[in-house]
Amino acid sequence: MSDQRLSVAVIGAGMAGRAHAYGYRQSGSVFDSSFPDVRLAAIADMNVELGQDTARRYGFEKTYSDWTEVAQDPEIDAVSVVVGNALHLPIAKGLLEAGKHVLCEKPLAGTLEDAEAMVELEKEYGQKTDAAGRPLVTSVGYTVRRMPALNAIKQKIDSGDFDPVTNFISTYLCDYSCDEKAPMSWRYKGGPGSGALGDLGSHVIDTGEYLNGPVTSVRGAYMDTIYKQRHLPLGAVVGHGHVEVSDEVEPVENEDFLTFTCTFANGAVGTYTISRVAFGTPNSQTYHVVGPRAQASFDITKPGEYMYDDAQAAPDTRGQRRVILNGDTPLYPNSCAMDAPGVGWNYNDNFAIQARAFLEQVSGTQSGLAPCGSFAEGLHTLSIIQAIAESAEQSGAEVAVS
Ligand SMILES: NC(=O)c1ccc[n+]([C@@H]2O[C@H](COP(=O)([O-])OP(=O)(O)OC[C@H]3O[C@@H](n4cnc5c(N)ncnc54)[C@H](O)[C@@H]3O)[C@@H](O)[C@H]2O)c1
Repeated sequence: MSDQRLSVAVIGAGMAGRAHAYGYRQSGSVFDSSFPDVRLAAIADMNVELGQDTARRYGFEKTYSDWTEVAQDPEIDAVSVVVGNALHLPIAKGLLEAGKHVLCEKPLAGTLEDAEAMVELEKEYGQKTDAAGRPLVTSVGYTVRRMPALNAIKQKIDSGDFDPVTNFISTYLCDYSCDEKAPMSWRYKGGPGSGALGDLGSHVIDTGEYLNGPVTSVRGAYMDTIYKQRHLPLGAVVGHGHVEVSDEVEPVENEDFLTFTCTFANGAVGTYTISRVAFGTPNSQTYHVVGPRAQASFDITKPGEYMYDDAQAAPDTRGQRRVILNGDTPLYPNSCAMDAPGVGWNYNDNFAIQARAFLEQVSGTQSGLAPCGSFAEGLHTLSIIQAIAESAEQSGAEVAVS
């Protein structure tokens, strides 16, 4: 074990904040390598009751009612920013000024301009160190990248087994906005591209690029909103949760559903369908990778397996086969408490792997885990989101991504 203890905090104790708290709690128990002792220092949330509940459940020492108290706490080294997207820039800025390492949730920011400002911060503070002399880490939480099944498919793509990938088909269908009485929250504010596209699309766009390399252009974008106003909540809204609402309404500023196609630098064409108003699918993310020599597919509701087909079997028994995560699947061994194939693996485990990767970056520990994405990668996703919004504005015209 490294002798430099790391104190961590989570800002935002909502739906994803609790997952970060869980991730830090587990970060010392997954994977092997010398790793610092992790002190679960504080949870900060303006909803103090929620913050206290999260701190108690995940074993954090203190609760703060505002993120500035985390910035002012000299004992805290590394912080997750897990609040509404419009707050990412001011909080990341305040934390970096206070010498903290930052893991910011996706999408990196509420707007392209904010994301650009965060990359400027990355350039400035990337040259600086924390109080213990460690170079400051600035990163964005692309949690889906950590799925072992997707990493297994990536390995096949990188080894040329698809020869080449021609089509990449991805859907992200959620039902959290189906109910007209789902309360107004930060998720419905922020203009075109900040709705289903920013919230859900940022995940699948990043994963598409993780597998296929950079998107070079987008086209055929269409986006729309079916519920144009939402009732104001009468209590605190956590994640997609429902609370009683008042008769007062406010306009919804962003899209409920969309589609677009894109071209990747590797020549593959991508087809995306994304919705937050998809009845019956609380969290359905699918990926289908197609080429002349192989096909693979993955459904996030079945995180312990993926489908794969190539010419290995004789023609009469050929077909998509179900591959269960196993000791040869990248990232899988050592990622769970019961380290045995077939026992069970799910999306929550990604938060432990992500927290581990972030703290390895901070402490300079090596276990072979890929580092978290940088603010620059977060900005790149925002530039694709902006291009999709522009394509939709121009009736689906092709828009290049720089
Ligand atoms: N990686 C993932 O799988 C994933 C999943 C869901 C959400 N997210 C991302 O996480 C972020 C938060 O989403 P969520 O669904 O958890 O939101 P949420 O609304 O459930 O929680 C946000 C919390 O921030 C708190 N907050 C607001 N202002 C604050 C302040 N000034 N100081 C301290 N706390 C404050 C709120 O009280 C609330 O509890 C977003 O960026 C979202 O895109 C990521």
